[in-house]
Amino acid sequence: MKKWNVATLSACKGVRKLGCCTVYDACFARLADEAGVPILLVGDSIGMAALGYETTLPVRLEETLSATAAVARGAKDAMVVADMPFGSYQCGDDLAVANAVRCMKAGAEAVKLEGGAEVAGLVRRLARAGIPVIAHVGMMPQRVHGYGGFRKQGKTPEAADAIRADARAVAEAGAFAVTLECIPADLAAEITSELAILTIGIGAGPACDAQWLVMHDLLGLNAAAPSFAKRYARLGDAARQAFTAYVADVAAGAFPPK
Ligand code: KIV
Repeated sequence: MKKWNVATLSACKGVRKLGCCTVYDACFARLADEAGVPILLVGDSIGMAALGYETTLPVRLEETLSATAAVARGAKDAMVVADMPFGSYQCGDDLAVANAVRCMKAGAEAVKLEGGAEVAGLVRRLARAGIPVIAHVGMMPQRVHGYGGFRKQGKTPEAADAIRADARAVAEAGAFAVTLECIPADLAAEITSELAILTIGIGAGPACDAQWLVMHDLLGLNAAAPSFAKRYARLGDAARQAFTAYVADVAAGAFPPK
């Protein structure tokens, strides 16, 4: 298999759709990489999926850096992307660039950050510094308190226009891909055909060039998953059964053997 990079990923636009996902440790990075997942995102969803937070907001840069280093150790061919957590890029562009550099030094090959026109200047600086950027527009989970919940965005013509303008702004600023989260499928389709860069959808319909799924939703590790997610396995049930059998074996003296 070939090593995925900005050029090989971008060449897939209009040719081949890409199934991408989050991972947060070396073990699952290796498995996803062996399965041919082209982009492994160390999402700030680590906060909700693995760290037990209610939202992504408490995730600290140090948690992202540690998970990124682990994922980079497990991945071979996939592109490893660090998702910049809340607070790591909102406090001035100099600090944001320094924090993105820390992500790259930890093993990331690109960074992802939420925002549209308002982060275009930062995206331009990162791109000029040689840091590949995946932007993220539509529903931005770091703004959950402003929305009053994780709600679909872009439902009115005005809101759809704003998302279109945001996607254009980050593309013009040099992002090589843009995440479209929880927006109407027809809006995602329009943006995908207008932009030359890759669109990576999550809850944004089938027209996007690529898709994200959160690993815990894909593998059935969570009790509940968003309605747009597809569960490809029931690892949560399998793990619970294995733990139960182990506890019972030890209690019954069946493990370890004599
Ligand atoms: O953190 C995350 O999981 C994301 C999704 C869009 C994949 O940002």
